[in-house]
Amino acid sequence: MIPYGRHFIEEDDIEAVAAQMRSGWLTQGPKVGEFEAAVAEYVGARYAIAVSNATAGLHLACLAAGVGPGDRVVTSPNSFVASANCAHYVGGVAEFVDIERDTLNIDPAALHERVRRGPALKAAIPVHFAGLPCDMPKIAEAALGAIIIEDAAHALGSRYRSGSRVGSCAHSDMAVFSFHPVKSIASGEGGIITTNREDLYRRLLRLRSHGINKLDDPYQHPQFAAQDGMRNRWYYEMQELGFNCRLTDMQAALGLSQLRKIDRFLARRRELSARYRQAFQSQPAGLRPAQSGGWGESANHLFVVRAPFEAHPGGRTAYMQKLYDRGYVTQVHYIPIPMHPYYARRGCSMASLPETVRYYREALSIPLFVGLTDEQQDQFIADARECLR
Ligand SMILES: Cc1ncc(COP(=O)(O)O)c(C=O)c1O
Repeated sequence: MIPYGRHFIEEDDIEAVAAQMRSGWLTQGPKVGEFEAAVAEYVGARYAIAVSNATAGLHLACLAAGVGPGDRVVTSPNSFVASANCAHYVGGVAEFVDIERDTLNIDPAALHERVRRGPALKAAIPVHFAGLPCDMPKIAEAALGAIIIEDAAHALGSRYRSGSRVGSCAHSDMAVFSFHPVKSIASGEGGIITTNREDLYRRLLRLRSHGINKLDDPYQHPQFAAQDGMRNRWYYEMQELGFNCRLTDMQAALGLSQLRKIDRFLARRRELSARYRQAFQSQPAGLRPAQSGGWGESANHLFVVRAPFEAHPGGRTAYMQKLYDRGYVTQVHYIPIPMHPYYARRGCSMASLPETVRYYREALSIPLFVGLTDEQQDQFIADARECLR
């Protein structure tokens, strides 16, 4: 079967993990530090904090941002549930504003409107959908002083309109990346938070590891930390309630090995996306590329097409089944978050999200991954057209 997304692992990646296992470090150790430094340098941020996955990264980012009980957090309805769940983990309340038709990212004008008429916002979590960067200067302006956490799970390697990489945090407080296998690079499970703020960096280091003091954080009970001027070597302090969200050195070894090849990965994704655009752009009644605008350079995490499926017998359900019968696993990104029972029970609705409603009816993610060959893609394009007839 040809899936919509897949990791791309080569022999040197396997060798990097094996070498790490032979080195003696399995849990978080020096390799994690190396990986953090490499990602920080790659995206152009001062700090990077590796975590067990992007969901954990978003959770810790909300905690570090001070989101707490009752606080309002706005995100995109067109995302994976983790973009909103992070607010609820810390007692906050997720809200949703509509997306733009051409980028499928959160609409800065809708965010502005929400800020103007609603209760105070504690944080905004824009999502760079499919890797296409949000208009961050406009979002930062619309959010009016709220903390900004970029959900950059899809966007390692994407560039803003300014040319700098997503994660450099010029218009945000933090950015969170995922290294889940279908993303730009894989580390098994894994994620990283980038920031330029030292206060957030220090807090995130503590929160990632049980809330235990890190670096040169001062002791809160210094009387227990030393005796007769000599440091008590066993002593550490849990200073707040944290978690175990650490990445392992084995995962970091894989992530580092993959990061070295990211330019090649991104180039292939770009090439495949351009071929799809070429194939689908001129089909008024058929499949068409879902993202037609944008403010920067996408990492091309997903390729989403739109079609008036409801006009066809059996709709999208039958279309996906026909493709499946020919060997393709397609997917819909995403079921709008407010439609999930958990959020619907909490009063979330689609009433003020017409663009999201329209998009959800028509969306389909088709195969896009580094290992997809031109021949496979050409065959898919032919099959996709035929199945729609
Ligand atoms: C937009 C978005 N945010 C967050 C996540 C969570 O990432 P992870 O699987 O690393 O926890 C995902 C995962 O697919 C995602 O697509």
